[in-house]
Amino acid sequence: MSLLIKNGRIITAVDDYEADIFVEREIVSVIGRDLQTTADRVVDAKGRYVFPGGIDPHTHLDMPFGGTVSADDFETGTRAAAHGGTTTIIDFAIQTRGHSTLEALDTWHKKAEGKTAIDYGFHMIVTDVAGGRLGEMRTLAGEGVTSYKLFTAYPGVLYVDDGALFRVMRKAGEDGALICMHAENGIVIDELIKRALDAGKTEPKWHALTRPTRMEAEAVHRVIAIAEQAQAPVYIVHLSSSDALEQVTRARDRGVRAFAETCPQYLFLDHSYYEQEGFEGAKYVMSPPLREKWNQEALWRGLRSGALQAISTDHCPFRFKDQKTLGIDDFTKIPNGCPGLENRMSLVYHGGVGQGRISLNKFVDLTSTAAAKMFGLFPSKGTIAVGSDADLVIFNPNRRETISINNPFTHHMNVDYNAYEGFEVEGISETVVSRGKIVIRDCEYVGSKGDGQFLKRGLFPGL
Ligand code: URP
Ligand code: ZN
Ligand code: ZN
Repeated sequence: MSLLIKNGRIITAVDDYEADIFVEREIVSVIGRDLQTTADRVVDAKGRYVFPGGIDPHTHLDMPFGGTVSADDFETGTRAAAHGGTTTIIDFAIQTRGHSTLEALDTWHKKAEGKTAIDYGFHMIVTDVAGGRLGEMRTLAGEGVTSYKLFTAYPGVLYVDDGALFRVMRKAGEDGALICMHAENGIVIDELIKRALDAGKTEPKWHALTRPTRMEAEAVHRVIAIAEQAQAPVYIVHLSSSDALEQVTRARDRGVRAFAETCPQYLFLDHSYYEQEGFEGAKYVMSPPLREKWNQEALWRGLRSGALQAISTDHCPFRFKDQKTLGIDDFTKIPNGCPGLENRMSLVYHGGVGQGRISLNKFVDLTSTAAAKMFGLFPSKGTIAVGSDADLVIFNPNRRETISINNPFTHHMNVDYNAYEGFEVEGISETVVSRGKIVIRDCEYVGSKGDGQFLKRGLFPGL
């Protein structure tokens, strides 16, 4: 099938021009003015932007966590992503202690294969590097899993100590892989949690009050120092606060290969959400937690200056009704995570470009190009160029929608609330093309389960 997209305004991380795009066999094959080529399908993109498909490098679909499993699986989650203009996700396989990472990869392949609406890759969450397990990392890289997430948070669950961290980083540095870090000081946080519970503090807001920004900044500082010693690049995931950002900025100023992402929840939501009536605050229990509002402008500054590279969602949805309520009497039992995969592009466009904080090119970089480069997908993904995958978003910058669980144009995630309920956004992904196939047409899903393919990613390119 061939596809011709006419009259669009093509925006990449560096370009901005009007042209037609001809797509053949999943790939962009010609870009030019007034193309006269015939095609099986023609889409008129007049008055619309054409962006490279969004890349969300941080999602948790079908993930066992907090005594339950995240509510979106690879079918529902990737369909919702497509609705929102995201055509690639990188999810996380999880190594179980005492077991091989290769076994974990197998398990995650089975969860995803034949189910997704869009392309996907995996990072590996490494929890156990005893014995010969470090040697598995090269095999993983050969399988296209070229980035590993480690945690200084969640002791007893996903936490690894500094020694293990150093060993994995050293190996990643040698192999050309990238380490992703969840950086919070989980050991001290556990002490703060104990004190809160002993004092009878059980409501959701205590999740945030026991995870202060200092404990994020301390862990960011430490993991960057360890990475520096190990001569490995490091990418801080879901960075939430000005304190933590300052540590990344200082390291980058010293020339250290430290990178970071933030997420829409830290740019648009804040600590006051924990003060809502009753148990409502549980909807926003995530780690790191939401911060005081003033942090948001510091994060936007970081995005503008290049101290922060990308915007992911850390999409990890749990239903309010029967999953978040596991912690109704004890905030430590509320599964950590919040939904957002579907709304990322509109939120960042509206709050970023619409409100004059970032340029159109920067928008593309933050939502697509930077992640493609960081995670070994560029230039097949993350740009619009002859030879790149035809992952394209036809985006209406003037269309307004109010994000709501009840709005069929903004919510297809398999979760019974939307974290951005009531937010009005101007800028909507209307038609979405994934490897040359229209999967969303005029906001309607027209793809099929299994359209998406597993992406074998390349090594960290060094940037
Ligand atoms: O609260 C969060 N972030 N849940 C997902 C797991 C993680 O730490 O990324
Ligand atoms: Zn994390
Ligand atoms: Zn996460």
